[in-house]
Amino acid sequence: MAKSKDSNKVTIFDTTLRDGEQSSGAALNIDEKLDIARQLEKLKVDVIEAGFPIASPGDLEAVRRVSQEIRGCSICALAHANPKAVDTAWDAVKNARKPRIHVFLSSSEIHMSHQLKKSREQVLKLTGDMVARAKGYLDDVEFSPMDATRTEPGFLYKVIETAIDAGATTVNIPDTVGYTIPQEFCALIDGIFANVSNIKKAVISVHCHNDLGLAVANSLAVLDHGVRQIECTVNGIGERAGNASLEEIVMALRTRKDLFKYTTRIDTTQIYKASRLVSDITGMYVQPNKAIVGANAFRHESGIHQDGILKERTTYEIMDPKDVGLAGSVLTLGKLSGRHAFKVRLEELGYTLNDEELKRAFTAFKELADKKKEITDRDLEALVAEELRTVSEMYHLEQVQVSCGDHGVPTASVKLVGPDGTTIADAALGTGPVDAVYKAINRLVGVPNELIEFSVKSVTEGIDAIGEVTIRIQSGNKTYTGRGASTDIIVASAKAYMNALNRLLAAMEKA
Ligand code: KIV
Ligand code: ZN
Repeated sequence: MAKSKDSNKVTIFDTTLRDGEQSSGAALNIDEKLDIARQLEKLKVDVIEAGFPIASPGDLEAVRRVSQEIRGCSICALAHANPKAVDTAWDAVKNARKPRIHVFLSSSEIHMSHQLKKSREQVLKLTGDMVARAKGYLDDVEFSPMDATRTEPGFLYKVIETAIDAGATTVNIPDTVGYTIPQEFCALIDGIFANVSNIKKAVISVHCHNDLGLAVANSLAVLDHGVRQIECTVNGIGERAGNASLEEIVMALRTRKDLFKYTTRIDTTQIYKASRLVSDITGMYVQPNKAIVGANAFRHESGIHQDGILKERTTYEIMDPKDVGLAGSVLTLGKLSGRHAFKVRLEELGYTLNDEELKRAFTAFKELADKKKEITDRDLEALVAEELRTVSEMYHLEQVQVSCGDHGVPTASVKLVGPDGTTIADAALGTGPVDAVYKAINRLVGVPNELIEFSVKSVTEGIDAIGEVTIRIQSGNKTYTGRGASTDIIVASAKAYMNALNRLLAAMEKA
């Protein structure tokens, strides 16, 4: 029998690789999913929801690979209430050390009548049948009545009872459209505990979306009402406004131990690294004022605050930055630093590169050290992210050269290495240097798309700082994000465009 209410251990169910990947522009390939999964294992999440295997062959393969490699967490596959989806989910996770299947089916009147076109009776039957089908494969089965917070409570109780009777060991209550507020959500959970006769046989979970900015508040509020699993994502990424942010939930539980008597298994010192990795790989920028992991989260600007911090850190800091893995040192390496010091510092920052990646990263570091006197941890992070980005390229940027100024037409020439290893080159004119570079690349790659967003920021202070460019391109109704970093912002722009194009090409191949 599940302990649910009696235990004070909260299960952290991470859905960065599934709901997080549903963020507009954040599609991930298999290698990228594996990189994130390895970091989630270091972070010690309890469950990794690795994907929705029926959605595409790429997702099926990614969940299989995560299941084979990651041994320290349960690996979960999502399935809608359909026999083939459940069978495919099992196929994807069957080699995991601790596999889980997560079946979902909408239960709100809005979804049942407009989307599913099914009656209540049909939904109840399908719930029982599909949970039982999953249970035929394994013990650890989760069920979610989608849009639970807009479901008529009496019917919701019946759906949950049916799922538990059929063998669900976790029942997840999703606030699919981010509609509820803490008081209302707590009352709903109380109602579930009071009215579902077999509720003690399952762990109750929540999955909150952030449309009203309440995902974390809603997730935390229901713990005192018996919920013992929270579904969340790194940096709070996810469908529309995203999901509850893992780092905010975990640090709230830890910082306010006086109020929350709950524990998690999370190694909080891995939080910052996870945040950077997810941001770099998905291309989803973390806003500077984002709680816990934003660039300003531990920066003190006003004189009074700085004075307080210098006298006693806790005057204006409720968390120690070291607890989330933010290294205290600013200046670390320079031109004369050797490969060993470089490797050790990367390891201290949480990066373990293989020999090939280390070799490339060290070469890039030496090139950077020639241009920039002081190399900070942020520079190193940008540099390693750049290396990890180049892993799954179809086209690789070999060279870019521009000529521009206020008299004359901006001109760019570009050399790329194509999928078959041959070098191809072309040139183009543009309205500005970036436009010229993008046009030259388009002539070579030939995939129509529209640039819909372009932003550039510097990684650190100073004239010699690395510039990081983030872009979004659109092709059909899908968007793809790209990132690139260099001390030359035109080169960074070209890298960002190649990164986005490679994602678009990978998606085309996957489709
Ligand atoms: O938001 C949602 O309802 C979901 C379900 C699949 C759990 O993501
Ligand atoms: Zn969701």
